[in-house]
Amino acid sequence: MSLQLGRNQFGSIDNIGKVLSRVEANALLNEWVLNNRLKLHMSQVAGLMAAWAHEKLNLPEDQCWKWEMAGLLHDADWDQWPDQHCKKIIEHLESLQIDPEIIRAIASHGPVHFGVEPETDMDKMLYAFDELSGLIHAYSLMRPEGYAGMELKGVKKRLKEKTFAANVSRDDIQDACQRADIELDFLITFILKHQANFQLPE
Ligand SMILES: [Fe+2]
Ligand SMILES: [Fe+2]
Repeated sequence: MSLQLGRNQFGSIDNIGKVLSRVEANALLNEWVLNNRLKLHMSQVAGLMAAWAHEKLNLPEDQCWKWEMAGLLHDADWDQWPDQHCKKIIEHLESLQIDPEIIRAIASHGPVHFGVEPETDMDKMLYAFDELSGLIHAYSLMRPEGYAGMELKGVKKRLKEKTFAANVSRDDIQDACQRADIELDFLITFILKHQANFQLPE
């Protein structure tokens, strides 16, 4: 399902630094997303975004939360309004006068689908983590040990099996790594290091 957004400006620069609190963001997530599996996906992507901002970029706390919030809400409208994905959440965050960087990252998390090019680091990493995180989680569900002992090699094998998690776009994963200028193996290893720790938001 694709919905071209048909614009390239999101939010207003007057709202830079304006974010939801963690409690507010979780409340929005829980109100809009009823499906626990999708909620978990969103909190996994959020956790990866925060970890990247902390560990790789050494960003200050308030910046890390912006990365995390983009991850946490990127699929907020997918559960109940899939035909409006991701227009509805973008417009909602604009009406709440949220920081434009967060809104732009959400708007560009699927360039083929939404017609918005990832430009900033935040945009590119959200795009890069999204599909790969989903594939790795699907892999954990088919392993009796879950995430424990999961290896790069196994993930790469699953990536090559086109029938495994067939809805995960291998093209998007490749394209995202290229745009972010990150080796696929490095990104998989980073996700493996972190993803088992993320849980459903309260
Ligand atoms: Fe999405
Ligand atoms: Fe997603």
